[in-house]
Amino acid sequence: MTSKVTFDSAPPPGVINLGIGQPSADLLPVDLLRAATDDYLSVARPQELNYGELQGDIRFRETLADFLSLAYGSDAKPESLLLTTGNSQAIDFVCERFTKPGDTIIVEEPSYFLAFEIFRDHQLNIVPVPMDENGLVIEALEAVLPKSRPTLLYTIPSFSNPGGRTLSASRRERLVDLSREHDFIVAADEVYQLLPYYGGVPAALGEMIDRGNVISMGTFSKILAPGLRLGWIQCSAHLMERALDSGWLNSGGSVNHFTSHVVRHAIDMGLQESFIEQLCDSYRGRVAAMDESLQEQLSGYLRWTRPDGGYFFWLEMAKEVNTRDLHARAAEFEVGFQPGEIFSSTGDFKNFLRLSFAHYNETDIREGIARLASLLTS
Ligand SMILES: Cc1ncc(COP(=O)(O)O)c(C=O)c1O
Repeated sequence: MTSKVTFDSAPPPGVINLGIGQPSADLLPVDLLRAATDDYLSVARPQELNYGELQGDIRFRETLADFLSLAYGSDAKPESLLLTTGNSQAIDFVCERFTKPGDTIIVEEPSYFLAFEIFRDHQLNIVPVPMDENGLVIEALEAVLPKSRPTLLYTIPSFSNPGGRTLSASRRERLVDLSREHDFIVAADEVYQLLPYYGGVPAALGEMIDRGNVISMGTFSKILAPGLRLGWIQCSAHLMERALDSGWLNSGGSVNHFTSHVVRHAIDMGLQESFIEQLCDSYRGRVAAMDESLQEQLSGYLRWTRPDGGYFFWLEMAKEVNTRDLHARAAEFEVGFQPGEIFSSTGDFKNFLRLSFAHYNETDIREGIARLASLLTS
C-alpha cells in the first residue's frame, strides 16, 4: 500500500491533521539558522563554494564527531562519518551500495511507510519481523534468518516510527552479534535517537559500528529542520570503503556541502545543543497533552503506550475496526491521522492508527483528540 505525503504540510484551514510528522512552524529555527549562516559567511572563503570532499568536509565531520561523542557518550570518529542529505537518501544510498535486485531485506514491522517504497525501488524482497514493547523480537528474527538469508535489516531502534518503541540494550547486543553470525548489514535509522523526553535511551547502534556490520543513519531533520536536507552515515572502515566507491559521489563530491558549513557553525556556537533541549521541552509537553486527552476521551476505544521520545503515538482499536474506513470520514470531522496498514508491507495493522504530536501545540492537540473522539465514537 503506497501513500503520498504532502510536503508543504499545509492541511486545509481549520483541519487538525495529526497525521503530519513534521515540526510545527514555531519549532522551525529561522533565527538560529540566520545567526549560523551570518557567522559562517563572515569567514567563508570563496573556494568553499566549490565541490567538497567526497565524504563531507573534514571540519564538519570533526564537529559532528565531537557532537555525537558528547550526545552518545562515546567516541565518534570523523573517518567513520559520511555526509548524506538526510535519512531518506541514506536509506536509498545503503540499498544502492549494498544490495542488488532480488536480495532480501528484513524489516521490523510496523515500520516507516516511506521506507517500503525505497526498498521496492531497489526491487528488494521484504521479509517482515514483528516487534513488541522492547522493539524487534529477536527470537522471531532468529527464526527467519536461516531461510531468508538477508543482505540488509532495517530497524528504527529508538522511539520508532510509528510504534514509539525502543529496542532494549540487550536486544541491540544480540542483533549486532547476529549480523556477524549471519553476514547481513543492520541499517539502523537513528532518526529519533536524540529526542528522549523521559530519561535515557540505550546506546545508539552508531556506537556499535566496529562490533558488527552496522550502518547507523542520523539526520538533522528532527533536531534542526527537515528543509536543511542534511544527515550522516556512521560505519566501520570496510563498509565506508564500499560506500565511497560510488559513481555519483565521485561526480558531485560532498553532498549538501554549503549547508554542512552552516550547521557546523550552529553546532560550534552551541546553538544545536540548546535547540535540542528546547525541542525536548516542547515535545514533552505535547506528549503529556496527547496522553491526557486520549485518556480522558478515548480510553475505552483505544489502547496505547505513552512514547518516551520521538514523534508518535501508535494506537490499537478493536480487531474488527478498519482505520482506513475511519480515515475516509476524518475530513468531515476536520481531523486527520495515518491509518495503520500503511506501516506494513503486507497490509497488516488495519485496526491501528498513528498520531503525531510534532505539528501542533498543546491546545490544538487537545482539540484534535476531541475531534478524533467524535469521529471514533460516531
Ligand atoms: C523513521 C524515519 N526515517 C526517515 C525519515 C526521513 O528523514 P530525512 O528527513 O532525514 O530524510 C523520517 C521522517 O519522518 C522517519 O520518521
